[in-house]
Amino acid sequence: MVVWIPLSRVFFLCILLLFSLTDLCNSQADFNNKTSTGYLKLRLLHRNPFVSPAQALSLDSHRLSVLYSALQSRKSLKSPVVSGASTGFGQYFVDFRIGSPPQKLLLVADTGSDLVWVKCSACRNCSKHAPGLAFLARHSTTFAPIHCYDPACQLVPHPVKHQPCNHTLLHSTCRYEYLYADESRTSGFFSRETVTLNTSFGRVARLKKLAFGCGFHISGPSVSGASFNGAHGVMGLGRGPTSFSSQVGKRFGYKFSYCLMDYTISPPPTSYLLIGETQPITRKQMMSFTPLHTSALSPSFYYIGIKSVFIDGVGLPIDPSIWALDNQGNGGTVIDSGTTLTFIAEPAYRQVLTAFKKRIRLPRTTDPSSSLDFCVNVSGVANPSLPKLSFRLEGDSVFSPPARNYFIDAAEGVKCLAMRPVTTPSGFSIIGNLMQQGFLFEFDRERSRLGFSRHGCALP
Ligand SMILES: *[C@@H]1O[C@H](CO)[C@@H](O)[C@H](O)[C@H]1NC(C)=O
Ligand SMILES: *[C@@H]1O[C@H](CO)[C@@H](O)[C@H](O)[C@H]1NC(C)=O
Ligand SMILES: *[C@@H]1O[C@H](CO)[C@@H](O)[C@H](O)[C@H]1NC(C)=O
Ligand SMILES: *[C@@H]1O[C@H](CO)[C@@H](O)[C@H](O)[C@H]1NC(C)=O
Ligand SMILES: *[C@@H]1O[C@H](CO)[C@@H](O)[C@H](O)[C@H]1NC(C)=O
Repeated sequence: MVVWIPLSRVFFLCILLLFSLTDLCNSQADFNNKTSTGYLKLRLLHRNPFVSPAQALSLDSHRLSVLYSALQSRKSLKSPVVSGASTGFGQYFVDFRIGSPPQKLLLVADTGSDLVWVKCSACRNCSKHAPGLAFLARHSTTFAPIHCYDPACQLVPHPVKHQPCNHTLLHSTCRYEYLYADESRTSGFFSRETVTLNTSFGRVARLKKLAFGCGFHISGPSVSGASFNGAHGVMGLGRGPTSFSSQVGKRFGYKFSYCLMDYTISPPPTSYLLIGETQPITRKQMMSFTPLHTSALSPSFYYIGIKSVFIDGVGLPIDPSIWALDNQGNGGTVIDSGTTLTFIAEPAYRQVLTAFKKRIRLPRTTDPSSSLDFCVNVSGVANPSLPKLSFRLEGDSVFSPPARNYFIDAAEGVKCLAMRPVTTPSGFSIIGNLMQQGFLFEFDRERSRLGFSRHGCALP
């Protein structure tokens, strides 16, 4: 999802001042109980697992083409800042209550974008309205559109043809518009609303004045229809000032964690998105850490540094600069909950592919949807032996996902390598949500580090 934000001073000030918050940005939500400790605990749900790699791929490719075209046009236009926002294809949803009385909605949990937005309906008498399809703004007593003169309005992109702000008019609302490369869009009013959230210790927090996009016009394949999997919006968890984690950061801490459970397990296990300072890590969790980096080109993203890749313990001769951010902020590797497959920059991808092909003795076959490059026929093989993949990360930690995180069942008896090459020059690699399954990930912005543990999913 491509978002065009005019290079406004306020936007940058807000990024700079995020940790010493000023009223200028005014993007911190209020809480009813300032003294309570604890963290937010949001149930993560999984819906409509993709049925074929082709489906995942078409969704991911869309997201990528959007992100990359954003990078390219930014170069030619010079001035717009582009935030790579989600196209909402992630398979993980957050259970969200918004409004007074609370209305229940499902939002895509997305570490690759900032804005929180929901589908809104302007119906006055919504009794005929199918329940649970959109947020009914008029049924909430706490819904408040943001005035266009409010500094918070500078944090979102505006429609191309919009009235200049007239601050003498009481009802000049802040209009936002997110445009997508495939001409999908969400636009509406940037607003504030009360959100009801579960916290640790079984308490409920009423979070007032959360700034969010109340989307009245939502169109295009990436944010509507089947590909959106029934979600009502997106919860951006990126680094920008409008993201959910930034807005609640001052109160709960600039830290969140999640465990994306394996969707093939039946019944699906419950997992949570935890926001804030959780219990200290136990030794049993054996958390590993790697530094988080930022890029001036894509300030929303969480970048990590890959030092080398091993397949069955053998290091591949990949030039580390392939994964690294350059001085301008190109390249690098992003960890993203809203992308399904893992995308690896060429020529590293070729080397990984060749190494897998060399080590696998199973008969080859083709991907029934011809979207993935390497598939094997495992029919009749009870426990197919698949090579072990591991990434050595900066900070001397090693990420060793189980084989089911990178070999997916493409058809009965067919397993395919769930990776795709990144062919765009200066494009970034992406560790997608499939690769993250079964690990606890902790994004700690205060300490600029990503923690991960194979033993953290049973907690809290
Ligand atoms: C606020 O939180 C504290 C600590 O959790 C609790 O003792 C207190 O009763 C709460 N106050 C209100 C008004 O909810
Ligand atoms: C809303 O519509 C229902 C029937 O459709 C009607 O009974 C009710 O009075 C209406 N309420 C308002 C506030 O108009
Ligand atoms: C703002 O609105 C007021 C009241 O409608 C009007 O008198 C004034 O001309 C407007 N200013 C601009 C710049 O449009
Ligand atoms: C809070 O937790 C309770 C019990 O687990 C659950 O029934 C409820 O739906 C949760 N509320 C929210 C806002 O997630
Ligand atoms: C896999 O191998 C079996 C024989 O072992 C064969 O019957 C089947 O057609 C093969 N499937 C594919 C998709 O190649």
